Amino acid sequence: MTRALPAGFVMGCATSAFQIEGGIHNDWTDWSAAGRSEHHCGAAVDHWNRWAEDFDLLQGLGAQAYRFSIEWARVEPQPGVYDEAALAQYAAMAKDLRARGIEPCVTLLHFTHPSWFHATCPWHDEAGDAPARFARFVERVVQALEGTVTMFTVLNEPGVWLSAAYLGAAIPPGRKDITELAAAGAQMLRAHAAAARVLRARVPQVRIGVAHNMLRFWPDRPAHPLDRLASSYVARAFNHALPRALTTGRWQLGLLPGLRRLHHIPELIGSVDFFGVNYYSRLFVRADVWPKPNLELVYEDRDGMGVTDLGWEVHPQGMQESLQEMASYGLPLYVTENGLDDRSDSRRSAHLYDHLDAVLRAKDAGVDVRGYFHWSLMDNFEWLEGFEPRFGLYRVDRQTLQRTETRGAALFRQVCAERRLPAQRPAQTRQPGTRRVPLQP
Ligand code: FCB
Repeated sequence: MTRALPAGFVMGCATSAFQIEGGIHNDWTDWSAAGRSEHHCGAAVDHWNRWAEDFDLLQGLGAQAYRFSIEWARVEPQPGVYDEAALAQYAAMAKDLRARGIEPCVTLLHFTHPSWFHATCPWHDEAGDAPARFARFVERVVQALEGTVTMFTVLNEPGVWLSAAYLGAAIPPGRKDITELAAAGAQMLRAHAAAARVLRARVPQVRIGVAHNMLRFWPDRPAHPLDRLASSYVARAFNHALPRALTTGRWQLGLLPGLRRLHHIPELIGSVDFFGVNYYSRLFVRADVWPKPNLELVYEDRDGMGVTDLGWEVHPQGMQESLQEMASYGLPLYVTENGLDDRSDSRRSAHLYDHLDAVLRAKDAGVDVRGYFHWSLMDNFEWLEGFEPRFGLYRVDRQTLQRTETRGAALFRQVCAERRLPAQRPAQTRQPGTRRVPLQP
């Protein structure tokens, strides 16, 4: 079977500033300097100095678009003090992409913050001025970009960031409080709306989106009432609270105490033109009340397609389902991230093939999905695991920082050149496994 990419369907790659640039000082570097993480990002993969060579690779792949982020900490290292040289470099990068015929898609907040942020205007402080400060940063960015960029995913994965920052205390600001989590989410959404206002006023033809992480949630024990209840609750909160808020102005994480407050943010209505879906995996949800209350999320190879080296189940069918679910909000979609940790370069091609196939199936079923961005162009710093995971189409040697092509890159290039999936699905090695992620009861 061969499958053609639809006319106009965009193939791209995605990265984020902190994960690749190197030499950044932000909340994350403070966090590891304080001993809260054993992983230090340091020079990352030195993209800040090697961006032109990296764009050669991107162009060599035949990518038509590139999603990258602009590091707030670099642009505004002190409150109200802007680094013009950093802004000029980002502008040069965007211009260079255009010159290569690659559409730049810019993320304005991809997990990291300036060092001063959490002490000055933490997201959970709804009386604070974080939205206004974020909008001022966005204003400076769009001024510098001079209209070169018209596609923005303002926030990256607010749900993932909020869970790690305000539920798991795994990342800065390292809190564990669901009431604060809900408040922080509301404040981030106000920041999104404020940024969208700036973008609409300043950038002709702008297209505004969000990169939203969607997971499939299944009951661990299919007939178990608590697992069923918990998985449908988590799916509603994690997958749907955000798009619902962005389209209706109503932000509410569900009816649990601490989360049930309904925030009215009417300025969200009309603030997005497309939804970006970041899709990676499926989780089985297990809920117990006895012998003690426990909620657990489980990655497990239940389709026979294996797990990735981070232990995430490979479940391409979930890509199609996620896109179909998101389509119900009535906006065009992009897959803004998809990929895997594949340290032996033995599974990326089959993974890419199967997930693109799932995207095309969603398209066949009537979903308006307009493009696919692979995470990632090259190996990078992973938030909780440092440099061990290998998400890149290009492998980066940790000693020399030299980039080398993976098999996945070859397939990506072939798909871009031929505008279709090859007749033959690439072979893959299958890695079975289970990984349990306990949550607080
Ligand atoms: C996503 C993040 C991205 C990267 C991938 C693997 O959740 O947006 O930065 O870490 O996962």
